[in-house]
Amino acid sequence: MRVLSVFGTRPEAVKMAPVVHTLARTAGIVSGVCVTAQHRQMLDQVLNLFDISPDYDLDLMRENQSLAELSARIFRDLDPVLANFKPDWVLVQGDTTTVAITALMAYYRRIRVGHVEAGLRTHDKWQPFPEEINRRVAGVTADLHFAPTEWARRNLLAEGVPDSAIAVTGNPVIDALHVVANQPAPQEAADLLEKLGIESDGKRLILVTAHRRENFGQPLEDICTALRELAGRGDVEIVYPVHLNPNVQEPVWRILGSVPHVSLLPPLDYLPLVHLMKRATLVLTDSGGIQEEAPAFGVPALVLREVTERPEGVEAGVLKLVGTDSRLIVREANRLLDDASAYAAMAKAVNPFGDGRAAPRIVERLKSFSQE
Ligand code: UD1
Repeated sequence: MRVLSVFGTRPEAVKMAPVVHTLARTAGIVSGVCVTAQHRQMLDQVLNLFDISPDYDLDLMRENQSLAELSARIFRDLDPVLANFKPDWVLVQGDTTTVAITALMAYYRRIRVGHVEAGLRTHDKWQPFPEEINRRVAGVTADLHFAPTEWARRNLLAEGVPDSAIAVTGNPVIDALHVVANQPAPQEAADLLEKLGIESDGKRLILVTAHRRENFGQPLEDICTALRELAGRGDVEIVYPVHLNPNVQEPVWRILGSVPHVSLLPPLDYLPLVHLMKRATLVLTDSGGIQEEAPAFGVPALVLREVTERPEGVEAGVLKLVGTDSRLIVREANRLLDDASAYAAMAKAVNPFGDGRAAPRIVERLKSFSQE
């Protein structure tokens, strides 16, 4: 059975790495990897960390690329790869433009599609934009849906996907996290924690990531204003690795570039990021993956979005949706920093998103499908 895993951005690479490694050591499977490189630098960091050498690298990223241009380049350059590798299955993960276009292209060539992290929905086509539609496109083309949770499975059933085409596997992000969190903390993370006084002066670390398209403009500015105010407490250190998208870089540096107790960093490699997350008191994020990872460390996360496709974490009490209103962000963060019982209630390490064994379940299901 020939399986081609296709991915393009940093989070897809993190989540597919355990699957790619499992495929590679499974008898009877010929595994190939194609990266669209929708992200260049951020993707390469993860490929190095997980020691993955792609068989095909489309190298598509352009500075400030539009969705249309990126999609057109994937359409043009992926088809020859499918013709050359001749996969029985194409695996995609999540909801980026790489995922939607790849799933459609595989369908055009009558190749089976497996969708990892299937069934996440907000049911609002504009939030997140364009991810909600990207994952629905992958959903209608997929032959096998690897749902991370029961909730995701129920979303798929409600859309008419037959139960036999769904496997609840957990999310392989937790597989990846276990591997990385067990490695020693890299010097870069240790040095930063020491410099900021997190180890020595009892300062508390707030880790921030924010880069969603629907937050570009005023919402992102409001997030930054809230961070400036929180930094004014003086007893916290805010660390914000800033995504390379120019729509993120510009406002973040303008508003926070010279604020005391705020450290703006280039995007971090996954290994130091995970080790900072482990040591954080609080995470503020609009990212998807970090909503899944912070609960694994018992670190409360405030979600800087109006809706989430990961309500399991909100229900479990480890995530809280706060949106992008500055006053609300500051109020909720202050509450957790000042009220020990409110903090303790959120800091319980119950992770609804997986147990670290998603990748073997995904590969087992792929194999059993071909024997049906
Ligand atoms: C993309 C995904 C989003 C995912 C995010 C994770 C889409 C539509 N969006 O958003 O779902 O959450 O990745 O990070 O697929 N850039 C670099 N170097 C890099 C990466 C990005 O310079 O390594 C810059 C480039 O100018 C690029 C821009 O960031 O044009 C935007 O990248 P793009 O992949 O289009 O969108 P993201 O905002 O990263």
